[in-house]
Amino acid sequence: MLTVSGLAKRHAKADRPLFSDLGFSVANGEIVALVGESGVGKSTLLNCIAGLETADRGSIHIGPRALDIVRLDEATRAALRARSIGFVFQAFHVLPTLTVAQNIAVPLLLCDVPVGEHGPRIRALLARVGLTGFGDRWPASLSGGELQRVAIARALVHQPLLILADEPTGNLDPRTADEVLALLLERVREQQASALIVTHSRHVARSCDRTLTLTPEGLR
Ligand SMILES: Nc1ncnc2c1ncn2[C@@H]1O[C@H](COP(=O)(O)OP(=O)(O)OP(=O)(O)O)[C@@H](O)[C@H]1O
Ligand SMILES: [Mg+2]
Repeated sequence: MLTVSGLAKRHAKADRPLFSDLGFSVANGEIVALVGESGVGKSTLLNCIAGLETADRGSIHIGPRALDIVRLDEATRAALRARSIGFVFQAFHVLPTLTVAQNIAVPLLLCDVPVGEHGPRIRALLARVGLTGFGDRWPASLSGGELQRVAIARALVHQPLLILADEPTGNLDPRTADEVLALLLERVREQQASALIVTHSRHVARSCDRTLTLTPEGLR
């Protein structure tokens, strides 16, 4: 489902590469935790996998057709991202000028899902993340943990093959974090999707199938 090989990335002006030869795979139905110290490059790695940042070297094959997102042209890369990837950003990136329901509908619009299906799907996911009745609210009126759950609902609504989540439970109380994690696990198993979840929580990492640790020397 996801195979990363020989991946290298250095930020402009950085004195050393963040990583120079990363390789790993995530299978269908597998959920993998990505841990490592702050600043080691976890978010950068997720961005490279989603094609939001370009890797300097290496390949990132995604999905049943094993398309290499590093080598796709921008339009094909954007289409692959829209259809196949669900991304939970570390900073949420919930759009302030759209309501909660409109935010969650964005991937459905990008994937041409018939408008008649939007409402039921959005309501079902809002219920699953404990936000029943929040559809018409504005993001500015939500707490950090509520925004995080909107971001998670938005990453799952189009049933992506690959879920990339950057600290998806960082702002949640332990019980809500467990519920959100259970939802992610359930989706991954049900849809035989794959997930890579960045976390600083040992508890979250233990709930995943396996843990990768990113260090300045590479993956362990
Ligand atoms: N666009 C950029 N240009 C230059 N340096 C960058 C850029 N983006 C990130 N960095 C630097 O690259 C390093 C890795 O950043 P990254 O956000 O990937 O770390 P992280 O492992 O996700 O950390 P955290 O756990 O704090 O979220 C940091 O030192 C950061 O300052
Ligand atoms: Mg980060």
